[in-house]
Amino acid sequence: MELDIRPKTIVTIERFILENQPKEARGEFTYLLYDIALAAKMIAHKTNRAGLLDILGRAGQVNVQGEEQQKLDVYADETLFHLCDHTGRVCIMASEEHEEPLYIPERYSKGGYVLVYDPLDGSSNIDVNVSIGTIFSIFRCLDWEKRGRLEDILQPGRKLVAAGYILYGASTMMVYTTGAGVHGFTLDPEIGEFLLTHEFMTIPDKPKYYSVNHGYFNRWSPAVQRYVHWLQGSEEDSPVLSERYIGSLVADIHRTLLRGGVFAYPADSKMPNGKIRLLYEAAPMAFLIEQAGGYASDGCQNILDIEPTSLHQRVPFYIGNRELVARAEAYLREEQP
Ligand code: AHG
Ligand code: MN
Ligand code: MN
Repeated sequence: MELDIRPKTIVTIERFILENQPKEARGEFTYLLYDIALAAKMIAHKTNRAGLLDILGRAGQVNVQGEEQQKLDVYADETLFHLCDHTGRVCIMASEEHEEPLYIPERYSKGGYVLVYDPLDGSSNIDVNVSIGTIFSIFRCLDWEKRGRLEDILQPGRKLVAAGYILYGASTMMVYTTGAGVHGFTLDPEIGEFLLTHEFMTIPDKPKYYSVNHGYFNRWSPAVQRYVHWLQGSEEDSPVLSERYIGSLVADIHRTLLRGGVFAYPADSKMPNGKIRLLYEAAPMAFLIEQAGGYASDGCQNILDIEPTSLHQRVPFYIGNRELVARAEAYLREEQP
C-alpha cells in the first residue's frame, strides 16, 4: 500500500498567529506571541537535555512562594523576562518567581500589553523526568500614557486578550487562545518550528478522568470529601471516571482538555485558599478551557470573574467539563453558612 507521504497542510505557529491576528492588531500582540513561542523552544531545548547538562537540581535559592527554586525554574524565568523586557511590546510583567512586578527599565520603550507567567509549572517533577510546563496570561495595559503599574497586572480573567501554556512532555506542545478558539502546536525539533496539530480544540462531552491529590483527603471539608466520593461513583448519578494525577497543572489540564474530566485543587485545612495561583495558573487556564467549551470555578464563582487583589493570591480550583465543575459548586453551596 502506497504510503501517503504528501504533507498535510503544514502551518507554523508564526503563520497561524499572523493569519489570525485581530484586524486592528498593530503587530505588537502578534510579535509578543512569537516571543513566547521562541522562549518555549529555548526552554524545551534545556528541558529535553536536563539530565545531560548541569541544569538539574536546586538553584540554591528559595522563591517568593517559599519553594526551593530549581535551576530550570530560574532558566525559564530569565529566558521569558530577557526575551520580552526590551522589545517595546509590554508595559510590565509579573512572574511566579518574583515577589514584585517586573518593571520595564526606563531605557526601553513600553508597549501596550502585560505579560504574567508561571515560567516552569510542576517544578517538583523536574528531577523525576515527568512532564512540566509554562503558563502565560496576556492583558492590555490599562493606561497607555503611563509606564506599567500593578493595576495593569491585577485584572480579572475576563480581561485576558490571550492565554496559554507550553507542555514539555513526550513532545513539546504550545496551546493558546486569543478568544477565537483553542489551538495546539507541536514542536518539530528537527526544524525548530511549532506546527499546527490541534485546531479548534474542544473538551469531549463524555468525561474520562478526575484528577485530585488524594493525599489531602483528611484536610478537605466534608463537602469536598462528598464531591470526590461522588466523582468516585458514590451516587446513582455519579459519572464513570478513572483517576489520574500528575502533579503538573499543565499536564493534568492538557489531559483534561483532550480526554474530558475534571481537575480539582480544593481549599483545605492547611491551605484555606488552595494552592493554585489566580493570575498565572487559574485565570489563564480558565480562559482557555472556557474557549474549549469547559468551565473553571473556585467552588463559588467563575474564575474569570474574580477581581485579583494581590499578585500571588491563591484560589480553590475546579476546571474541566461544565457539569462536573458545576456539581462541585453545588456540593460546596450546601456547606455555605
Ligand atoms: P509550580 O511548580 O509552578 O509551583 O506549580 C506546581 C503546582 C501545579 O503545577 C500542580 O497542579 C500542583 O502544584 C501540585 O501540587 P501538589 O504537589 O500539592 O499536589
Ligand atoms: Mn505552577
Ligand atoms: Mn512554577
